[in-house]
This record gives sequence, structure tokens and C-alpha cells, in this order.
Amino acid sequence: MKKVAQEVYDRIDNDLYHEEGDIWWQSDSPLYLIQYSVNPARVGYLKKILFDTLNVSPQGKAALEIGCGGGILCEEIARMGFDVTGIDPSEQSLQIATSHAKASSLQIQYEKGTGEALPYGDSSFDFVCCCDTLEHVRDVPKVISEISRVLKPEGIFCYDTFNRTFMSKLVAINISQVWKRWAFVPPNLHVWEMFIKPDELTSLLWQNSMECQEHRGMGPNVSLLVFLRYLRKRAKGELTYKNLGEKLFLVESSNMSIMYMGYAIKSQ
Ligand SMILES: C[S@@+](CC[C@H](N)C(=O)[O-])C[C@H]1O[C@@H](n2cnc3c(N)ncnc32)[C@H](O)[C@@H]1O
Repeated sequence: MKKVAQEVYDRIDNDLYHEEGDIWWQSDSPLYLIQYSVNPARVGYLKKILFDTLNVSPQGKAALEIGCGGGILCEEIARMGFDVTGIDPSEQSLQIATSHAKASSLQIQYEKGTGEALPYGDSSFDFVCCCDTLEHVRDVPKVISEISRVLKPEGIFCYDTFNRTFMSKLVAINISQVWKRWAFVPPNLHVWEMFIKPDELTSLLWQNSMECQEHRGMGPNVSLLVFLRYLRKRAKGELTYKNLGEKLFLVESSNMSIMYMGYAIKSQ
């Protein structure tokens, strides 16, 4: 797997994370859906892996979220009991994350930076998380090598991202952001060519001394027809993003054709 070509990377709108105002926690923003439609499935998965499968005890353990945005996932990881650091290139998003954590009485360290150049020493973290972010970075191989470097031996890396398939092009690109009849996110939120196949990630992890333990699918809680019906109502103004988040959310499944999550363990 290689760094994304500049002409492909130029098409993704990563500038939207620098927008003024709270794009993360306010109910009139498409990113509000992360809290209600995306987070429950992945937080449930993280808890299952960390506590049921791996018997991790979080007290005194250092966790890092790469591409933390407004801190929606960092806050959940902090509530699990980890000492959390979140890193993101967007100063504006970090300001929102910092004030929200304060209002929630959570101690989280937020820092500006990119996954390609993590400003931490080798073996600094017990747990690294990169959710809904790998498909936004230009140099995935560099990010994975940085994650391996900052993870302690036997440290855990959890992630979720989009698969590069016909279904993900149809659902995550065309229906979700191109075809106006249903579109509910900004037009260049994602670029299909930047999506990552599970096997590409597995071999990249392996090349960086991290062994992938499993991949699980993540998909809508309803059929494609019902999904389209809800999106149409949202597009016509009959449903707000808040209403949409109550009806439409992701669930863990065996179908990895659109999104998947997984975890890897760094070798000793
Ligand atoms: C879809 S958001 C995900 C935010 C958060 N992980 C969540 O799920 O709530 C993608 C995030 O990736 C960040 N990002 C973009 N390029 C990045 C890079 N090279 N390294 C780290 N983060 C990056 C963006 O600023 C944005 O906050």
C-alpha cells in the first residue's frame, strides 16, 4: 500500500474540520451523527475487545486517539478509565474538544499534530485508536508505522475505516454525498480511492510488527430501502440530523462491504 497520489488527496475536504463554530456536538451538523449513529457501535466493540476479550484494566494506562476531531471518542475512552491524549491537525476542532471535555469534567490532553508525525517517544502508549480517520490521511503507511513506534510491546491498536468496494462507492459516496435526492454529508467528505481494503491494512500492520486479530463489519441498522427512505426525508427537511441519528445508526455485523473495524496487537 502506498501514499495517496496528490491529485486524489486534493479531492478530500479535510478543511471542513477547521470551520468556525461547533461542528461536532451541535445537533444541526452532519458530524452530530458521529455521536449517535457511529459511536455506539464502535464504543461497544472497543469495550468488548478491551475488557471481555483482552481483560485490560485501564487505570494508569495511556491511550492515544489519532484524528480525534471534537473529542467524541476520546471522551468515551476517558470514561472507560484510561489517561487519554487526542491529536488532530485541526486547531478549531481541538478548541471545541477542549471546552467540551472541561464542561464534561473529563481530563483529556489535546494536541495539534498529524498521524504521520506523532510528537511522542517510542513505546509511549498502551492503547492507540484511529477511528474514521485512516481514510482521511494522505500517507497511511507512515501513520501505521508511527502507531507501531509509539505503542508499547503488546500494546493494542483499534481502528475503523471504510472498505473500497462497489457497495461503499454506492452507499458511502454516491448515496451519502453525491446524489442530492439522499445526500446527507458534505460532497467531498470522503474520496472512494482513499478507502482501504481489510487485506491491505492487515499486511501493512504485519509489516509494522502488529498482528491483526480480527475484522468485523459495521453497517446500517436498517435495510437499504429504509435507509434511503430516511435519507430522503432528511433531504426534504422532514427529519433533522438529530431525528436521523435516532432512527439510523451503525451496528456491528459480519458484512464488511462498507465499513469495518478491527484490532491488532504489537509484538513483543
Ligand atoms: C471524520 S473525522 C473523525 C473524528 C474522530 N476520530 C471521531 O470519529 O469522532 C476525521 C478527523 O481526521 C483528522 N485528520 C485529517 N488528516 C489527518 C492526519 N493526517 N492525521 C491525523 N488526523 C487527521 C481531521 O482533522 C478530522 O478531525
